[in-house]
Amino acid sequence: MSNVIAVGPYSDPDDAALREEFDARRLPGLDAIAEMPEAERATVTGVAFMGHEPFDGAVMDRLPALKAIANFGVGYDAIDIAAATARGIRVTNTPDVLNDDVADLAVAMWIAQARGFETAIRNARSGDWGRGVALPLARKASGRRVGILGLGRIGREIADRLAAFKCEIHYQSRSRKDTPAGWTYHADPVELARAVDDIIIAVVGGPETQGYVSAGVIGALGPDGVIVNISRGTVIDEEALIAALASGAIRGAALDVFRDEPRIDPRLIDLPNLLPLPHIGSATVETRAAMGALQRRNLRALLDGREPETPVN
Ligand code: DGY
Repeated sequence: MSNVIAVGPYSDPDDAALREEFDARRLPGLDAIAEMPEAERATVTGVAFMGHEPFDGAVMDRLPALKAIANFGVGYDAIDIAAATARGIRVTNTPDVLNDDVADLAVAMWIAQARGFETAIRNARSGDWGRGVALPLARKASGRRVGILGLGRIGREIADRLAAFKCEIHYQSRSRKDTPAGWTYHADPVELARAVDDIIIAVVGGPETQGYVSAGVIGALGPDGVIVNISRGTVIDEEALIAALASGAIRGAALDVFRDEPRIDPRLIDLPNLLPLPHIGSATVETRAAMGALQRRNLRALLDGREPETPVN
């Protein structure tokens, strides 16, 4: 019997590869671990994990022989790393292979929001091409002042793309980065919001960034502002965002991630100035294949007692 379980939703190619290489048993979610017979749980040494449900110490304790969690994704905020380390469990993630996809999506969402794709697509489908009364005009995307929150690897890819759109680039991160001339650093997110038209969120998720895009940041953006989020839903104060979108305190938002995903607050999803996506940042054939391959290499290394390519702890 295999010592590996694969937890969470997977694309078919990843599932087949995991079965072939590790003979992994698939579980739909972490809850299902509790239903495994105790003797079977006791043999599990590796988990190939995908998802956003909390992988905490209590879950780890159901797998007493566990030594490796290979996360499918760069963000590992769902995994309690301190609890894993305390139990001698190594964790890996899949950084870098998804940078292009996530940055492409951020820019696509930003343009789609500026150019009013939601309304335009609806009008095209309904045959309403604005005869008689002109359709509402959208906003020009190129040349806007854009603030990137978090100039890590994905944030940097986003900024490089926006530079090609002749945007004025501002960023906020823990420290000033080595950037092309003309990019403006801000130490504080409110200061960043005051200086730009739009904000694109690319900070990591987790307790440190919870509510980082606060009512103060959102308010400082102003009525022409747009917020794009490809990071984690928890980074935005969602109550403040709902209020700002509903009152017109900001112009719109484009979100690939939500605080309680896959559930989206009904007050949010119904707003006409929201462009929602179901967390598809890395969801292309090419990138998911690369993530799956890196996940399996990491898992193999940990189970063989070798150092993995992309360790988290
Ligand atoms: C990631 O890799 O973190 C993506 O957001 C998928 O969870």
